[in-house]
Amino acid sequence: MTEKNIYPIFDKMLSRKDREALIGQHAVMVWFTGLSGSGKSTLAIALERELYKRGFFCRILDGDNIRSGINNNLGFTEADRIENIRRIAEVSKLFIDAGVITIAAFISPNNEMREMAADIIGRDDFLEVYVSTPLEECERRDVKGLYAKARQGEIKNFTGISAPFEVPAHPDLSLDTSVLSIEESVDRLLELVYPHILKEQD
Ligand code: ADX
Repeated sequence: MTEKNIYPIFDKMLSRKDREALIGQHAVMVWFTGLSGSGKSTLAIALERELYKRGFFCRILDGDNIRSGINNNLGFTEADRIENIRRIAEVSKLFIDAGVITIAAFISPNNEMREMAADIIGRDDFLEVYVSTPLEECERRDVKGLYAKARQGEIKNFTGISAPFEVPAHPDLSLDTSVLSIEESVDRLLELVYPHILKEQD
């Protein structure tokens, strides 16, 4: 093939907009933050299912799957948690650039980490959802039995027990799953997310 048959347009990488147009949605980041056992993963899964039913394409990133894969070399010191969130934010950015509605469910226990994530991903694309279920309720549920271990000192640096959790100052939405049903929470999430993902906004 001669050089004159090469057109510059073929050299250009397709953009996020091109991909969003192909799949008929706008990408956004839905970032859940909250204590272990607060309901982040449950809400992430319920939200994804509702969006899927409505024809939207999502991907969930959550603590247990990311920490057993890409972040399996990280623990729960402050430095490791920062690195955990940094990598998750970078991966999320790639998903968003691919046009995917990205849903992250990580404790992300302080403002600095959440702000770093928002900066990496881009503030316009970042929706912060605080799952505000009180510690007493998370501990009562103790789905994974980790609060009991943390109380006995078997797990160190456990968020809410022996490591801090900073309440987000200005979340886009707060959901207390000890008060709201999953359906009620998902309704509020859809209300928040919908204006960002609809194609018509162009
Ligand atoms: S984060 O603080 O770095 O954002 P992440 O969401 O990835 O945490 O992981 C939290 C999950 O790891 C918890 O839901 C729990 O199952 C488990 N875990 C194990 N040790 C700890 C700990 N010391 N503090 C908090 N969660 C822990």
